[in-house]
Amino acid sequence: MKPLENDLFLKACRREPTERTPIWLMRQAGRYLPSYQTLRQRYDFLTLCRTPELAAEITLQPVEQLDVDAAILFSDILVVPEAMGLTVRIEDGLGPQIEHPVRTAADVARLVIPDPHEKLGYVLEAIRATLERLRGRVPLIGFAGAPWTLLAYMVEGSGTGDFRRARVFVREAPDVARALLEKIVHAVARFLRAQIEAGVHAVQLFDTWAGLLDPDSLTEFALAGVRRVIRELKAAGRDDVPILLFSRGTAAWMETLAETGADVLSLDWTCDLARARRQVGDRVALQGNLDPIALLASPDIVAREARRVLARFGPGSGHIFNLGHGVLPETPVENVRRLVDTVKRESPKYHVEDRAGTDL
Ligand code: CP3
Repeated sequence: MKPLENDLFLKACRREPTERTPIWLMRQAGRYLPSYQTLRQRYDFLTLCRTPELAAEITLQPVEQLDVDAAILFSDILVVPEAMGLTVRIEDGLGPQIEHPVRTAADVARLVIPDPHEKLGYVLEAIRATLERLRGRVPLIGFAGAPWTLLAYMVEGSGTGDFRRARVFVREAPDVARALLEKIVHAVARFLRAQIEAGVHAVQLFDTWAGLLDPDSLTEFALAGVRRVIRELKAAGRDDVPILLFSRGTAAWMETLAETGADVLSLDWTCDLARARRQVGDRVALQGNLDPIALLASPDIVAREARRVLARFGPGSGHIFNLGHGVLPETPVENVRRLVDTVKRESPKYHVEDRAGTDL
């Protein structure tokens, strides 16, 4: 494959020196973009995910319109529960809905650990189509839901906010929950391996709902799930592909997260980047963590807040600029442009020593 024109993101994942801080945004391909809305008027969301040419086109929209330093594949975390045998719908206004949520040992027994080439071939095709269109401009990030977050949707049947059914379930039926987690771990690990074989340059695990758990359940379900997926991936011998972990609401667990095997921790906006940096030392790189709400303010405020995040991390390598969660649908595109420009313009001064050290 052609070498990348812009590999700032991958260098930062490895904590290598860069001339500036790279930036991409979670949910950068989505509803705030008019070009996405136009396609979305013609096709429903899952059709977009299942049609490789369309998924590739949407993946490229933020790269071409905003000049971000990485692309993230347009898809969804719920393609895995679907491939395992559940019926998933994404409804306007309601979010994800699962037809018969998992509640019993028999439900778990019916689920399959899918061969990604058979059941998720459309995602792998979308990766190939995207790489072809990207022509090496920036790296492509693949992703999957982390085991606990997928388990939460599969048991709850929808995204309720506090996922109380799923949290009762792990207490009432811990053995069934463990058996379910086990299947999800293998499904996710196989899926990410297939994405890596198809050519993605990095993978991110989304543990959006980790912060709902008490310490024991967090350890047993969220952290153990992530650790096992990462172990399976590393065992496949692709240490060159960085693994990013977005674990939301778990700022109190920074040291433990740094020991999961992830190369990069993606922080939500409640974390203090400076403190997190001290806590993780040189074990992992950090990604984040502007509050997505800041993008609803005026462009000058957006620029100020971006400078604050850069200053919080401070000088040196190992920071990837991102939001603390996904771009909100009501975000003005102009503000996202201002954010990207600000990070590109203001971040080189934090990399002066990097440049001196390596003749960049
Ligand atoms: O980041 C990107 O640009 C890539 C695409 C992507 C989507 N979903 C597209 C999407 C990614 C990485 C995701 C991950 C995802 N999906 C997560 C983890 C990250 C997070 O935001 O917490 C979760 C929890 C989901 C589940 C999901 N999918 C929800 C809750 C919803 C509905 C609510 C919402 O935020 O839109 C979806 C649908 C979805 N996934 C849309 C998009 C663009 C909106 C679909 C539409 O109506 O057009």
